[in-house]
Amino acid sequence: FHQHQPLPSLVGKHAIVTSGPTHEPIDPVRYIANRSSGKQGHAIAAALAAAGMRVTLVSGPTQEPVPAGMDFKPIESAQQMLAAVDAALPADVFVGAAAVADWRVASAADQKLKKGADGPPALVLTENPDILRTVSQHPKRPALVIGFAAETEKVLEHAAAKRVRKGCDWILANDVSPETGTFGGTHSRLFLVTAAGVTPWPHSAKTDAARRLTHAVAEYFSTMRD
Ligand code: CTP
Ligand code: CA
Repeated sequence: FHQHQPLPSLVGKHAIVTSGPTHEPIDPVRYIANRSSGKQGHAIAAALAAAGMRVTLVSGPTQEPVPAGMDFKPIESAQQMLAAVDAALPADVFVGAAAVADWRVASAADQKLKKGADGPPALVLTENPDILRTVSQHPKRPALVIGFAAETEKVLEHAAAKRVRKGCDWILANDVSPETGTFGGTHSRLFLVTAAGVTPWPHSAKTDAARRLTHAVAEYFSTMRD
């Protein structure tokens, strides 16, 4: 692989990519979110589209420009993200790059919560649907299901376990411990974890990682064909 190698053609194939954070409402004016920038997911969607794929990008709120040349589905919550992904199936490739909130407020208030004599409200949380796992087990499962693993310790160990637990094909493991400064940043250091083992990728711009992933996807489909 070389950064300036032309992108392989994936014409005729459909990819669904999730990106960004999700926003989980507390009440009509407040939400729980995370620091995901959407840079990696948006870059992957753009690189796959540049290789000729039809791309559906399902994204939570980000500062990234709406990318051209793809079907863009903006959503806010994890439940909305799952519904949009489900509606976009079938696909040949799924890339779960979103930082989906693990929990949402069990019953978000219909009206703005007010301060009162009772003191601060207790937030009762409930688990969100696991979109990557749902896609991996879906009757319309894409041939290639790729997830990310954001870890702050034991990165490869956790990523390998996550790949098996989710039932996906590949995991891009991402060290997001604060000292790496990668969460929300422009660069990352990824490890491609497959059934065959671990391939470390160089520390690089997220746009370069997106092109590298596109090459790996094209290689996967070309060996399928032969
Ligand atoms: N993911 C998802 N839906 C969720 C949670 C995570 O689709 N509700 C996806 C992410 O997009 C990512 C992968 O699952 O591709 C792993 O996300 P991560 O947060 O690292 O894993 P979790 O299974 O949520 O485990 P934990 O946060 O406890 O490490
Ligand atoms: Ca999580």
